Amino acid sequence: MSDKIAYSRQGDIAILTVRNPPVNALSQAVRQGLSDGMDRAEADAGVRAVLIVGEGRAFFAGADITEFGKPPLAPHLPDLVNRIEASPLLVVASMHGVSLGGGLEVALGCHYRIAVPSAKVGLPEVHLGLLPGAGGTQRLPRLTGVEAGLDVMTTGRHIGADKAHALGIIDVVQDGDPKDNGIAYAQRLLDEGAGPRPVSAMPPPDPIDWDAAFDAILAKGRGQISPAWCVRAVQASVEKPFAEGLKAERQIFYDLMQTDQRQGMIHAFFSERAVSNLPELKGVEPRAVHHIAVIGGGTMGAGIATAALLSGLRVHLLEMSPEAGEAARGRIEGNLAGALKRGKITADQHEAILTQALQIVTSYDTLAEVDLVIEAVFEDMDVKKQVFAELDRVCKPGAILASNTSYLDINEIAATTSRPADVLGLHFFSPAHVMKLLEVVVGDKTAPEVTATGFALGKRLNKISVRAGVCDGFIGNRILATYRTAADQMILDGASPYDIDAALEEFGFAMGPFAVADLAGLDIGWAVRKRKRAEGHAPTRDATYADKLCEDGHFGQKTGKGYYDYAAGPKARVPNPDVLPMIEADRARLGITPRDFNHEEITRRYMAAMVNEAAKVVGEGIARRPLDVDMTLLFGYGFPRYRGGPLKWADIVGLEPLLNDIKSYAAADPDFWAPAPLLEQLVAENKTFDDLNKKG
Ligand code: CAA
Repeated sequence: MSDKIAYSRQGDIAILTVRNPPVNALSQAVRQGLSDGMDRAEADAGVRAVLIVGEGRAFFAGADITEFGKPPLAPHLPDLVNRIEASPLLVVASMHGVSLGGGLEVALGCHYRIAVPSAKVGLPEVHLGLLPGAGGTQRLPRLTGVEAGLDVMTTGRHIGADKAHALGIIDVVQDGDPKDNGIAYAQRLLDEGAGPRPVSAMPPPDPIDWDAAFDAILAKGRGQISPAWCVRAVQASVEKPFAEGLKAERQIFYDLMQTDQRQGMIHAFFSERAVSNLPELKGVEPRAVHHIAVIGGGTMGAGIATAALLSGLRVHLLEMSPEAGEAARGRIEGNLAGALKRGKITADQHEAILTQALQIVTSYDTLAEVDLVIEAVFEDMDVKKQVFAELDRVCKPGAILASNTSYLDINEIAATTSRPADVLGLHFFSPAHVMKLLEVVVGDKTAPEVTATGFALGKRLNKISVRAGVCDGFIGNRILATYRTAADQMILDGASPYDIDAALEEFGFAMGPFAVADLAGLDIGWAVRKRKRAEGHAPTRDATYADKLCEDGHFGQKTGKGYYDYAAGPKARVPNPDVLPMIEADRARLGITPRDFNHEEITRRYMAAMVNEAAKVVGEGIARRPLDVDMTLLFGYGFPRYRGGPLKWADIVGLEPLLNDIKSYAAADPDFWAPAPLLEQLVAENKTFDDLNKKG
């Protein structure tokens, strides 16, 4: 028998203990071991019941995701679950930690289920672009009814033991050791004369309006298809005999397995974990951080302070005056009230944060004891230099000095201090207590343990941290500037901001770039354009319609008008009728005859610009690996997760056709569309971006 399953006996009960750390994924060896264990128990004289229990952190975290995309190996999970369910012996699952995906499906194949109160169950396959493929769509609704079952499988969320008990998924919730609990429960069932109780033999639940449910879930997924297909599989569970329903589920599972969305989602799953796993930081100890300071209490500073406070850190927030300090406190209180309302903190924690952990100060001299400082003041190099001079003066040796700048040169800031090795960028995204992305910007002189501390802080704040090198805009904003330029150029050539937003929302972005600009505030882009013009970096065809909007006081959502009019509320946007005439005036001034753009061409150009700049960012070492770019765009810029990230998307559509597109666009604008050397190299060598990820 496989060494992944230990076989033992207690009286009439055979115990199959799963040993596949860290999370008991259902690899081939585990499936084989369970199948052999069932055979052995059935052949073992006197055995009347089987207990399946996991050792370590979990019952089962699900199918072994590393086996996906490879030829499937027997015994297949659906066959194993059917085999367990068909046993003449009484089979009990005793669950602790997580029982996810195939792990819950194994439990549903058992005849009875007991769990400790901290156990969690779920069917997260939709997050991998799949649906439960081992009977989950057929068995779960027989226990919970259709609506609750669909909710579990289309959201993929984890459900606590008590809720799962209330839904009928778990029979008994009991504290204690999972193995002891399971043995006692199996014994009790035997004593009561209970026999096998296959879920497949239970009557199917009542039907719902399947087409309406399919359409509603598809619309909610912004193009992601797997949640909607759960509806069709569950429909089969109601309308077909069990065996036929299983076949229908299997067919949909195989079809989804072949999709690009499945590839994209699995890439995202592993990249999310690999992104903060940097070879250069192996064995490097971060410095201890208990107490931080945030300089500046605007939206960004207050958001950073909130994130830090919510993670249990002490925070000194420095503002220029008591009035500004009070305004900052108000912003933080507003953020914390939201966290309290959503149950992220208790009333006691809320009180302790406001009375003990947070201190608003106005003098740098109060910062002598902090372990780390994050500066979040106005984006101006001279202002930043003044702040860092003060920090250098007052902070203790070993304190880490971080800037939240979005694009300024960290090396230049570091050079003004006496301790450049302690300086780095920590670039948060607004609102900083909500957005998951953190760019850890490593300067030429940043010490490895300072970088490691940036990553440790990111983890503590529950962020996805990405290592970025120094350049204008780092990874995310540099790529954003390029694809936004491509969008702006399309507007001059004839597209409207509304066509562009619609095309990209069809692609799967939560919001198109102009809706995003309205949300972020048009004044930000205005300031950048003014700076670039002053530095002599204006685009060849310099449009002014966006400046005109700002000059008229329209900064987007915060002023009620931008590209869109928000008179009816932030979600009820309608195009601002002043915008198209402003654009037409620009076209006339620049002598441009507008042409039509369909959604496909808009998306192709926009994505080509994004991928080309991303390839430059990787080629120059600003991002270490393509997956670092992918995670930046996924967690900071609303890129659709089911596409994996721009470079995974590029691999899937093919690098050669993309390069050909870029070369064809370059005929009209050779500077902007100069192909990235890395992209040309990969095409010449017939390689993909993912090949570079694998190199580590
Ligand atoms: N297969 C293979 N490896 C897995 C895995 C799985 N199902 N789940 C987790 N791992 C690995 C992780 O990659 C990680 O490996 P490294 O340490 O080498 O990076 C390790 O286990 C620990 O995982 P986390 O770092 O994520 O630990 P955590 O405690 O934060 O979270 C978890 C644990 C909740 C199980 C989380 O890993 C998770 O959500 N895993 C995915 C669960 C899932 O999607 N299961 C369904 C699979 S599909 C299926 O089962 C259906 C089918 O029919 C095919």
